[in-house]
Amino acid sequence: MIPESFIQELLNRIDVVDVIDKSVPLKKAGSNYVACCPFHQEKSPSFTVSPSKQFYHCFGCGAHGSALSFLMEYQGMSFLDAVEDLAKSAGLTVPQDAVKISPQAKEKNLALAEVLLLACEYYQTALKKSGRAIEYLKKRGLTGQIAKTFQLGYAPEGWQNLESIFKKYDDDALYTAGLVLKNDQGKLYDRFRDRIMFPIHNMKGEIIGFGGRVINPEDTPKYYNSPETPLFLKSQELYGLFAARRSIREKGCALVVEGYMDVVGLAQFGVMNVVATLGTATSAFHIKKLMRQTDTIIFCFDGDLAGKAAAWRAMMNALPSLTDKVVLKFLFLPEEHDPDSFIRAHNKEAFELMMQDAMPLSQYLVQYLTEKNHLVTQEDKVKFLNEAEPILKEITAPKLSLLLRKRFAEILHLNDQEMDQLIQVAQPQFQSHKAQMKTKAKLPLSMKRKFILLLILKPQFAINEDLFLAQYDTYEDDLLKKVLEIALNLPESKPSSILHGLKSKIDYSVMDLLQEELTYFDDQIHFESEIDGARKMLLEQAKASKTRAHFSALKDKPLGSLTEEEKEHLKMLTQRPKKP
Ligand code: GTP
Ligand code: MN
Repeated sequence: MIPESFIQELLNRIDVVDVIDKSVPLKKAGSNYVACCPFHQEKSPSFTVSPSKQFYHCFGCGAHGSALSFLMEYQGMSFLDAVEDLAKSAGLTVPQDAVKISPQAKEKNLALAEVLLLACEYYQTALKKSGRAIEYLKKRGLTGQIAKTFQLGYAPEGWQNLESIFKKYDDDALYTAGLVLKNDQGKLYDRFRDRIMFPIHNMKGEIIGFGGRVINPEDTPKYYNSPETPLFLKSQELYGLFAARRSIREKGCALVVEGYMDVVGLAQFGVMNVVATLGTATSAFHIKKLMRQTDTIIFCFDGDLAGKAAAWRAMMNALPSLTDKVVLKFLFLPEEHDPDSFIRAHNKEAFELMMQDAMPLSQYLVQYLTEKNHLVTQEDKVKFLNEAEPILKEITAPKLSLLLRKRFAEILHLNDQEMDQLIQVAQPQFQSHKAQMKTKAKLPLSMKRKFILLLILKPQFAINEDLFLAQYDTYEDDLLKKVLEIALNLPESKPSSILHGLKSKIDYSVMDLLQEELTYFDDQIHFESEIDGARKMLLEQAKASKTRAHFSALKDKPLGSLTEEEKEHLKMLTQRPKKP
């Protein structure tokens, strides 16, 4: 664990504008900097970086955070790596005991990455030496160039080949990385034998695992993957994303296919914006990861029954993450083809034409639901509704949700009210994200809320007495208390580091709202007097409510049990001049 105080010092030292500008060139616009958002596809800039608040915020997709979260989200760095990177540029050293607390974990991950890289190099060299493996790849139509681009390799036949490159074959790292297995007698042996090796990269381009394909068609399983390791979570990673990232952004569209061979094959024909899942279903996490890169996602699964089932599952997993900005499409190939075989049988143009004609989500849904249901009898219609209901309930994107309901109603010859009665889904919020935030931001802030925002922006003006203002159990008081804890402790904090300190202590949604409010908060003001003014008003309010509470407590007590002092007090309170 790295001490919070170090992170906060770090965030205070660095400038978020410099950090982001290195990857995303920023333009000055008023007191802020802007750019087209790197987290989603857009043509006009809605990504703003505030030098005074030290955080970024995108009005389009809502991405926001500090320099630290930028490195993690955009560069794909781990928390530790991001801290180290920032520390280096700020001339700070990450406290040793911080690293010491989890040295094993850190070292282990480093060791894992290292052995995977070494293994990859070994497999690549072995491919060059294996006529049989080269022959196989040639037969599959792959060029040497594309094999090199994807770092394809070959794990030779034999049980302990990796012994030749790893001095310690029994090193834990080899086992944890999934490169070796242990038999019942505890003997170690290579996991991948006589297989074409597909290294799998994370967003940083580091190797995190492998997929291995048999050469002999009789061998099973056809594909064999690395196991899940601390570096390799199958439900979160996508094969080819690192290589495809640029093309996805340029084309504004990502193609999701089923097989590694599909990614490689399409790339050889110049279709580069392609990723594959790792032999698992497309997860909500995959979709979110892709939505950070692009607005249009096309699923292109095999033309067979399994491909159709996979498409349906992918769609169901995607629904809850959909926004009205995202376009999901489905491309179904002729039954005998997968993307790789299709592009080889035809050409790039034919494939791209098909991509343009991919079926939008709504059409796909209707087609799927009516494929085996002719909607003739009442029972047919009930069946349709029963199948449509769970789908509609998963969709939170307001426009998509409404339009789909209308479309389904049309198909069933129902009017909108009837449809509403039959299928109740949460009423969608009808406002664009931007508009929603504008209204939210325009809502007058309560005095306490304003005080909290002021203190986050200028913690140096917090004083111990402010704690008195946070004495009740409301959620605002709780927030104020937490902000004060940090501000009084580290008065030199920048807003981003206060927010970082709050992150683990408050709910995610509270954090989101706070970020939005801060983004809209006018910081061209005289902070000291604003804070002073707010404090005075809150103090009055607090005293008044304290007096009220005290008064009602005294009033409720039997007169005889009051002390002299209390009697005096009560008299004073009751004699208070009436308000005009
Ligand atoms: P080729 O047959 O070489 O063209 O590969 P493909 O990519 O077309 O394979 P296929 O469509 O059969 O499978 C798609 C994906 O599912 C593969 O890339 C693997 O990720 C996964 N997969 C296929 N077969 C197996 C298997 O036997 N075991 C595991 N774990 N995954 C598999
Ligand atoms: Mn194939």
